[in-house]
Amino acid sequence: LLDERESMYLVSEFASTYFQNTMLKTDQGKAIGLSYFKERGFTDETIKTFGLGYCLDEWDAFTSEAIRKGYKMDYLEKTGLTIVKGEKQFDRFKGRVMFPIQSMSGRVLGFGGRILTNDKKAAKYLNSPESDIYHKSKVLYGIYHAKQYIAKEDNCYLVEGYTDVIQFHQSGIQNVVSSSGTSLTSEQIRLINRLTKNITVLFDGDAAGMRAAIRGIDLILEQGMNVKVVVFPEGEDPDSFAKKNSQTELEEYLEENSKDFIEFKASLLYQDAKNDPVKRANLIHDMVSSIAKIPNQIQQEVYIQECSRIMDISEEVLFSTLTQMLAKEG
Ligand code: CTP
Ligand code: MN
Ligand code: MN
Ligand code: MN
Ligand code: MN
Repeated sequence: LLDERESMYLVSEFASTYFQNTMLKTDQGKAIGLSYFKERGFTDETIKTFGLGYCLDEWDAFTSEAIRKGYKMDYLEKTGLTIVKGEKQFDRFKGRVMFPIQSMSGRVLGFGGRILTNDKKAAKYLNSPESDIYHKSKVLYGIYHAKQYIAKEDNCYLVEGYTDVIQFHQSGIQNVVSSSGTSLTSEQIRLINRLTKNITVLFDGDAAGMRAAIRGIDLILEQGMNVKVVVFPEGEDPDSFAKKNSQTELEEYLEENSKDFIEFKASLLYQDAKNDPVKRANLIHDMVSSIAKIPNQIQQEVYIQECSRIMDISEEVLFSTLTQMLAKEG
C-alpha cells in the first residue's frame, strides 16, 4: 500500500510539472493559460512558486504523455487525473488552469482546475476526487508555502479560495492558507494548531462567506485557539481586495478590521436590528454558545465579562446560561 501511495504521488508530481510546462512552453498554454493568470495579476515568480499550470483542451493529451513516460493507467485513474469510461480514457482537467495542492511537506496530493469561461452551467472549479493520497477535509491549500511564516508571525490567515492565498502571498502576506471551498473542518484547524494558536478568518464579503466565518469560529474555539475575523467589503474577496490595493493599504485594512470573535458577533447585531429585543436575545445566546466551546475556564470568564460589557447584560445571567449549556452538552 505504501508503494501504491508513492506511485500516486509520483504520477501527481509528473502531472504538476507537465501542466506547468504545457502552460509556459506551448502556444495554446501561453495564449490561454498563462494569459489568464497574467490577467489576474500574477507574476512569473508567483506562477512558479505555486506551480500553476494548464491542461490542454484536448481529450487525452496529458494521459497519453503520462502513459508514454511509463506511468500506469491504474494510478492515473486512482488519482482522478484520468477518467476511464469503457475503452475510452480522457483528461479530467481538459481546458482548465491548474492549481496543484501540496501537503505540509510539499508533495502534490491533488489539483484544483479552474474553468476559463464564465459559463455558469459548468463548475467553476473542478477538484481531484478523494483518493488514498488526497483527503480534501484534511488538507489546507498553501500550507507548504505558508508554514514558516505562520510560525514566525504567530498567526494564520484563513481564506476561502486558491487565488486568495496566491494574491496575498504576492502582496507580501505569506502566513495564509485556504480551506478551498469545503466548509472548514477540525482536521484542517489541527494542522494550523501545530504552528500557531491564532487564526484570523478572512472570508468573502457575501452571505456565504459570512456563514462560513460564523461556523468556523466555534470549531477554532473548540481547539483552545484564538480567533479573529475580518470582513471584506460587499462583493470583495481577499484576492480582489489585495489586487486593488497596495501592500500597505492591505496591511492597514487587516489591522483596522480584525475583530475578536465576540466583537465580530456583536457587530452582526448592529448591522441587523439593534433595537429588536428578540434578535438581541438570540444573539446573546449565540455568543454564550460560542463561549461554551472554549476549553479554558479563565478564557471563558474573560469572554463572559467582555460579552456582558458589549451587550450590556449582567455577567450573572450569562454565567447561568453558560452553566446550563455546558450541563446539557455533558
Ligand atoms: N470551489 C470549488 N468548486 C466550486 C466553487 C468553489 O471547489 N465550484 C472552491 C475553490 O477552492 C475556490 C473556493 O471554493 O477557490 C472559494 O470559492 P469562490 O469564492 O467562489 O471562488 P474564488 O476562489 O473567489 O475563485 P475565483 O476568484 O477564481 O473566481
Ligand atoms: Mn487514506
Ligand atoms: Mn466565495
Ligand atoms: Mn472568492
Ligand atoms: Mn475570487
